[in-house]
Amino acid sequence: MANVVVVGSQWGDEGKGKIVDWLSEQADVIVRFQGGHNAGHTLVIDGVSYKLSLLPSGVVRGKLSVIGNGVVVDPHALVSEIERLKEQGVEITPDILRVADNATLILSVHRELDALRENAASKENRIGTTKRGIGPAYEDKVGRRAVRVMDLANLETLPGKIDRMLVHHNALLRGLGEPEISADDLYKELASVAEKILPYMDRSWQILDEARRAGKRILFEGAQGALLDNDHGTYPFVTSSNTVSGQAAAGCGLGPNSIDYVLGITKAYTTRVGEGPFPTEQQNEVGEFLGTRGHEFGVVTGRKRRCGWFDAVIVRQTVCTSGISGIALTKLDVLDGLDEIKICVGYELDGERIDYLPASQGAQARVVPIYETLPGWKETTKGARSWADLPAQAVKYVRHVEELIGAPVALLSTSPERDDTILVQNPFQD
Ligand code: GDP
Ligand code: IMO
Ligand code: MG
Repeated sequence: MANVVVVGSQWGDEGKGKIVDWLSEQADVIVRFQGGHNAGHTLVIDGVSYKLSLLPSGVVRGKLSVIGNGVVVDPHALVSEIERLKEQGVEITPDILRVADNATLILSVHRELDALRENAASKENRIGTTKRGIGPAYEDKVGRRAVRVMDLANLETLPGKIDRMLVHHNALLRGLGEPEISADDLYKELASVAEKILPYMDRSWQILDEARRAGKRILFEGAQGALLDNDHGTYPFVTSSNTVSGQAAAGCGLGPNSIDYVLGITKAYTTRVGEGPFPTEQQNEVGEFLGTRGHEFGVVTGRKRRCGWFDAVIVRQTVCTSGISGIALTKLDVLDGLDEIKICVGYELDGERIDYLPASQGAQARVVPIYETLPGWKETTKGARSWADLPAQAVKYVRHVEELIGAPVALLSTSPERDDTILVQNPFQD
């Protein structure tokens, strides 16, 4: 019996939500272990679309869903997401949703600081964050001044926590020439939401330990993608958490021996939202084609995603940094009808050929992709549900991707619909 971690292998939006929903039929518990409501995961079930940001994608099936300690939780965003899903007929109660008592809270001060910094930054320095307060909340967490979920249950110690946090934030606000925040307002903001959150509070580590001992299947749902990882990504144009699979254990309170299989969700081409290097970006008709065919608009901010060819160099690197056992290749259908398809197989950096993404910001901006060109296919793969339905040339593309990245395709996705998914090798039965 295997526990499976799902992670994004590019810059996010690879289709993690769809695959987690598909896999969750076989899982007993689904757990988020990093990120926050910067994530936007879309599930399409019988033509109905569900958009999740903070809730694990298993909630739609009514599976036990855990928001682990590694997640940063905006309590207001959580409450409104629960409400939104209720309107779509998905009832979320403490029977199926638990939030780690030691998860960090995102407060309005974080959201404001995120926006303030982004708006003040020059074009070159702007990260293009989702302005959800993710970075500032993680900064407070490692700075040991965060307010956490369990603090909502201890309103008598909350003022002290708030004071400690505001010593830092008000100094910053003064420096930026912005009005300071009153401890009273922050207290009221938290007290007002406490009773809506506390019924979900639980010990993530214990729920998962019990599940593990009982031989239940755990599905770990990553957010963002490996190139947005705070260590391994295109720093500083990254998010503020570790998005690689290694975070799955720490982000919910289990050991690494609880993870058996790492599934890297991989788009058949590449997209990125926000600023930062993107070697295979196509700011031309190819990029327009991919963006239009793939409906590449951000779920959270509605921003147009930047689009480009498949970059085997970065995915090959992710296979290493996340220990990927196999991939789910998504959005193959978007490539239908192209005369030829390019794949980046290496980079040229200052006249030399390299086969990895260098760590420095300058070098990442300078690498020039080296492409191989493959013939496209005229038939459609959209909605294909068996390998035999795929055109020969599409199969060749998939096989070549496997060879270049050094990992096998375990699942293939051919449309946004839950069941338009081809199973090659079941990650749970590894
Ligand atoms: P996530 O953040 O990784 O969960 O991905 P998003 O939900 O942000 O973006 C992926 C988008 O592609 C969503 O709109 C999905 O409905 C859609 N999608 C997922 N798999 C496929 C696929 O195989 N083909 C097509 N055409 N769309 C897909
Ligand atoms: P899912 O889970 C794509 C990007 C932002 C920005 C950078 C930092 O849907 O794949 P942040 O608000 O996290 O401080 O922004 O990270 N980003 C994402 N891009 N998909 C996501 O999540 C993302 N979450 C954050 O656009 O460039
Ligand atoms: Mg997304």
